[in-house]
Amino acid sequence: MKSAKTFFTVLFFISAQLSYSQTVENLKVEYQARPLGVETQSPRLSWQIKSPKRGTTQTFYQILVSDDEKTLAKNIGNVWDSKKIKSDQSLWIEYKGKPLESRKRYFWKVKIWNELAKMSAFSEVSYWEMGLLNKDDWSARWIGMKGTEGKPPKSVELDKTFNLGKRAVRARIYVSGLGAYHLIFNGKKVGNDFLTPGWTHYLKTVHYQTYEIDPENLTIGSNFITATLGSGWWSSGLGWGGGNHRYSEGPCRLLFQMEMEFYDGSRQTVASDASWQVRTSPITSNSIYHGETYDSRLEYNKLWKKADVLDDLENTTSLFGTEAAANIREESEKFSTANIALKSSPSTQIEVIQEIKAISITEPRKGRYVFDFGQNLVGYAHLAVEGKAGKEITMKFAELLTDKGLADQANLRSIRPTDKFILKGYGVEQWEPKFTYHGFRYVEVDGLPSKPDKNTLVAKVIHNNVPFTGEFTCSNELLNKIYKNITWGQRSNMHSVPTDCPQRDERLGWMGDAQIFAPTASYIMDVNGFFAKWMKDITDSQHSSGYVYDVNPKMVVGGPSKPAWGDALVIVPWRMYQFYGDKRILEENYEAMKKWVNYLNNHPNTKQNGIYHFQSGEGEKAWYGYGDWVPVENSPTKPIGGSYQYFSNQIMAQTARILEKSQDAAEFEKTAQQVKLKYNELYFDKAGSQYEGKTQGANLIPLSLGLTQDADKAAVAANIAENVKNHQKHLTTGFLSTAMLLPVLSESGNNELAYEVVNQKTYPGWGYMIEKGATTMWELWNSDTEKPEGMNSRNHFAYGSVGEWFYGYLAGIRPDDSGAGFRKFKIAPMPVGDLTSASASYLSPYGQIRSSWTKTGDKFTLKISVPANTSATVEIPNTANGNLKETGKVLLAKGKQPKILLPGIKVVKADAKVVTLQVLSGDYEFVTE
Ligand code: BGC
Repeated sequence: MKSAKTFFTVLFFISAQLSYSQTVENLKVEYQARPLGVETQSPRLSWQIKSPKRGTTQTFYQILVSDDEKTLAKNIGNVWDSKKIKSDQSLWIEYKGKPLESRKRYFWKVKIWNELAKMSAFSEVSYWEMGLLNKDDWSARWIGMKGTEGKPPKSVELDKTFNLGKRAVRARIYVSGLGAYHLIFNGKKVGNDFLTPGWTHYLKTVHYQTYEIDPENLTIGSNFITATLGSGWWSSGLGWGGGNHRYSEGPCRLLFQMEMEFYDGSRQTVASDASWQVRTSPITSNSIYHGETYDSRLEYNKLWKKADVLDDLENTTSLFGTEAAANIREESEKFSTANIALKSSPSTQIEVIQEIKAISITEPRKGRYVFDFGQNLVGYAHLAVEGKAGKEITMKFAELLTDKGLADQANLRSIRPTDKFILKGYGVEQWEPKFTYHGFRYVEVDGLPSKPDKNTLVAKVIHNNVPFTGEFTCSNELLNKIYKNITWGQRSNMHSVPTDCPQRDERLGWMGDAQIFAPTASYIMDVNGFFAKWMKDITDSQHSSGYVYDVNPKMVVGGPSKPAWGDALVIVPWRMYQFYGDKRILEENYEAMKKWVNYLNNHPNTKQNGIYHFQSGEGEKAWYGYGDWVPVENSPTKPIGGSYQYFSNQIMAQTARILEKSQDAAEFEKTAQQVKLKYNELYFDKAGSQYEGKTQGANLIPLSLGLTQDADKAAVAANIAENVKNHQKHLTTGFLSTAMLLPVLSESGNNELAYEVVNQKTYPGWGYMIEKGATTMWELWNSDTEKPEGMNSRNHFAYGSVGEWFYGYLAGIRPDDSGAGFRKFKIAPMPVGDLTSASASYLSPYGQIRSSWTKTGDKFTLKISVPANTSATVEIPNTANGNLKETGKVLLAKGKQPKILLPGIKVVKADAKVVTLQVLSGDYEFVTE
């Protein structure tokens, strides 16, 4: 008896200890940990709870916010004390304190109470800082150098020296540039960002960045600022045919404001104005597409002149080409710095993320060296070289090699990306470009004064610096390689906007590619802020009739946008809501989303037969949009308008429900149902259970988007499987339906077939690309045999959409809409084929989710982690004998539950195939034998 009592006392003691050991960590404001330049009056605060105890949930929280760290240390929130709030919400809590002031830093911390009413300690202190909220916070003027206009304009350098008489204790730089700026303060680059301020719809919105400057770097006496300006996306010239589309022809401009505070409380501001000096820079040409030329000899000896103030200078734009008519057809806008909204950039910028040394250097022609970096990557090359003044070194970038082993730029179409560096002749000279980037594996270098080694040229990989959140690995090396290529596809196409490709005369924010890849992207990286920023790029140029453009920021391709491309306006915010629980992205874009869907619903083409189709041209020349772009087998394009109209109406109905707009919800739901009926009437062959075209894509798109009536689903899925088998277990899908194929097969009882498709090494398929040496995703299934000159990128992320299946089916981690942002989720791994293990981790907004399984003989082990304040539905493949153990204890014996229940687990049902559990937070190890 005594021993039993001791046992319970000890148990109670342990559990009491554990309940106290929960901590609150990873505080976030909006999309980042400690953002500077926040502009909203109601920033949203989020945190994660860590606890070793199963079933930890939050029942209350208290947030303290103070404008002074010392006050906060005394547990006083002088700008906001939320008090103890009864709520289980630990993401996206809106700040509701005193009005927030420009420039101010706000410190905050939070504590929570768990399900046993036990309180945690306060989290560590975090902070956010406000940006410049009002127009009159800016005293800076846009400055530059008149006469440097052009196609593209010339790069210039701006310079300012100022004196300080006392010790500074705080310094900030608020800065923007058009097209792009590179900033040096007292000899040091400011920030690690590249190609700032980033690409936006410049005619309406231009971003600025905020940098905190360590007061140690300020000197009593002279201080120096040097800014170099280049064209960036603003005036480089973009679009096929060499790039004739630009927001402006310059001149390039700088907007700079440095604010300092001194030990005695006094302040000083240094702002761009006519007192600055300007001259043309040693960068004699720069362009996003073509590359950069730098003549070091021009670093000195060039005369400065007084900078010009360029505040109201207007520019005509050529967003849709050089012909004025093409621009007028769309709602034309003029560029003027007076008309733009200056906004703090909400997401992180492009940075150097990795350095890669060559795996080999060859010399296919005398004096011409080819560096092979072993990976198709995006960034630039850093050069270190010593030689005579005037010596010119040329670097040509390419994804491929010619038969002779030289850089092959044929598939870059009209451009020949090349960087040039001209030596000044003093010691070892280090150089890298400031205003261009390249997609390449190979660099051909000409003009080197001596034989190079692997330090002569080092590749720097650049992309938006957002945290990586996902990892995947399994026992099949081919699948691991495919996964790796997916991640490289993503890293290669996150350059301020989600681009189609990073290398040729395109690199545009194509909507269809982005919406189809968004779920995979969301597993691999924390893309919430990145896509939220892009939504603004899209809505900034929405046409008054409701349509949007295929490419955003809008340029090159005129409107209206095509089915599945324009629908990204609705789909992307929805994906962000599913993955991150970000409701504001729905709120902020709601009106724009609604306008687009109403445009579809009320289009004259829709009036013809009740469903939307896109059409340009008549009769033989009729064209219905991009369709299931670049598939192996073409599917009819016309129906895709209706299938995405249905999907977008469905998303609108759900969004309206979430935002409590019940009337809208009912209307969108009704339209969706009408479209569904009509669609099946028009395009579905009931007898054969196939959609018009009968291809994989033709059946997958309506089935996957939800248009197929319940009674027909199994038969349509069976036809898809049949079609796959008839193609010797290969896919024939395009951009849209590729994302759908494996999930549909896995869910319709054809998981083995799904695995056989992904495991193919023969054409067409992901494995085929790898067999042919691909280190990222190709644009075409047959990139190797297709002619190079047309559309043939070796680095498109679209076919990487299969990543969703790796995470969601092989490892089984899937969002659950009833608890957005992985508040609730599924872990439903699907072991298959000869796989003996698969493992994925996903850093969800609530914390780390893990699903890791192994299979040895009849033994199946599944280890999972469910973060605190979340719960998961877990599906475990059942065995014939129905035995299931969890961390060594019996959970099911012959399908029956013993009397003693295991903490955190509820058995929902067990049938011959799967055991379904509801699982609270914690780590678990399930074994079936
Ligand atoms: C791009 C694609 C894009 C497509 C539109 C291509 O040129 O590279 O990725 O979605 O055009 O059909």
